[in-house]
Amino acid sequence: MPFDPGEMPRVARHVFVCTAPACADAGAEATYRALKQRARHIEGVEGVWVNRSGSVGGCAHGPLVVIYPEGIWYHHVTCDKVDELIRRHFQNGEIISEWLFHRTEGCPCM
Ligand code: FES
Repeated sequence: MPFDPGEMPRVARHVFVCTAPACADAGAEATYRALKQRARHIEGVEGVWVNRSGSVGGCAHGPLVVIYPEGIWYHHVTCDKVDELIRRHFQNGEIISEWLFHRTEGCPCM
């Protein structure tokens, strides 16, 4: 059966929560589950797609959350910070400077 891109939901942002061992030990699974659930119903924001990822290299600072297309990497994003992440980053468009771990320039595949 041919692929029909019309079947795909709109993806405006792609969020990766590292759930590899070091981040998992810091609570990444709870962060992932909370963010995955909350991302479906963010008031005023559509198309936030959340996935687990393998290690992104900031193992001592997890849970790490990486958001594209902004190329923003946040550190220590524990489950209790998910509501604040949603409000500040996704709804208010703020880069949360005190959580900033890294910033990717351009597309990561280039
Ligand atoms: S285990 Fe998450 S960055 Fe390495």
